[in-house]
Amino acid sequence: MFKFTAKALIVAMSFGVASFAAHADPITIKFSHVVAEHTPKGQGALLFKQLAEERLPGKVKVEVYPNSSLFGDGKEMEALMLGDVQIIAPSLAKFEHYSKPIQIFDLPFLFDDMDAVDRFQKGPVGQELLKSMEDKGITGLAYWHNGLKQLSANKKLVEPKDARGQKFRVQASAVLDEQFKALRAIPRKMSFSEVYQGLQTGVVNGAENPYSNIYSQKMHEVQKYITESNHGLLDYMVITNTKFWNELPEDIRTTLSEVMDEVTVEVNKKAAALNERDKQAILDAKTTEIIYLTPEQREKWREAMRPVWKKFEAEIGAERIQAAEAANKQ
Ligand code: LMR
Repeated sequence: MFKFTAKALIVAMSFGVASFAAHADPITIKFSHVVAEHTPKGQGALLFKQLAEERLPGKVKVEVYPNSSLFGDGKEMEALMLGDVQIIAPSLAKFEHYSKPIQIFDLPFLFDDMDAVDRFQKGPVGQELLKSMEDKGITGLAYWHNGLKQLSANKKLVEPKDARGQKFRVQASAVLDEQFKALRAIPRKMSFSEVYQGLQTGVVNGAENPYSNIYSQKMHEVQKYITESNHGLLDYMVITNTKFWNELPEDIRTTLSEVMDEVTVEVNKKAAALNERDKQAILDAKTTEIIYLTPEQREKWREAMRPVWKKFEAEIGAERIQAAEAANKQ
């Protein structure tokens, strides 16, 4: 009798465990970002949610918060470290307090095109940078493209001297600050959610963004000109809290990594087309003239901004800059 009871108890207990596992609350992953949903990053976050929840039904729930609706610039990194959010994807311009070498991505005229960016990010230095903040509790999961930045203003910017004295909004980046100082323009650090208003009220006269950010924030409505300068990069590092990530059950972490890799391929394949679509939408809106530079004019911008490289070479590491330049030539 006792034997039977003990066996029954074990059976009952194992059912209990099984039913606990089946009904355990899913792990909630909050993914917060500052852009609109129809941009490359916005689309990537939604695809990550879709695939993660499909592959891990009942085990993982992903909540996406776009448009700075949960945390904006300046707050999202702290929120990640505190565990209030599990994934964010700040632009590469927003890491200088955590990893100086990541500043490399802000150097003006560093990459010839997005293929070169891809090669560098996939190469040894790009991969090293993903891991460069682990001692601070931040793990890099992937690089997502947005694309190359264009200058916008209410004044025609054809040559570097045209930017003199103009106030430009910059992301929180010392490199970008210096880039505009090199033009004798006035940089103003401002979080992304404030840019439209800043341009509208004249707190700043211009900005630098890929077309997808200009269009989705309606900046073209308050900027008469866009100079297609392609002078710098705006890409993202998708990051997570290292402790959260390492403590995930192994099967879940592996599946989420696979999903992230798939989403990364998709985002990076589609980002250029999304920017082209939004460039066309800006042209259709007829609010803004797009100025195309001759190779000679573009060269002048390069010459004016290039001195910035030397200022940051020691913090970034000359060998990393060489690796990035080598990515242009492959
Ligand atoms: C910006 O602040 O201009 C960008 O980093 C916004 C973004 O996430 O694309």
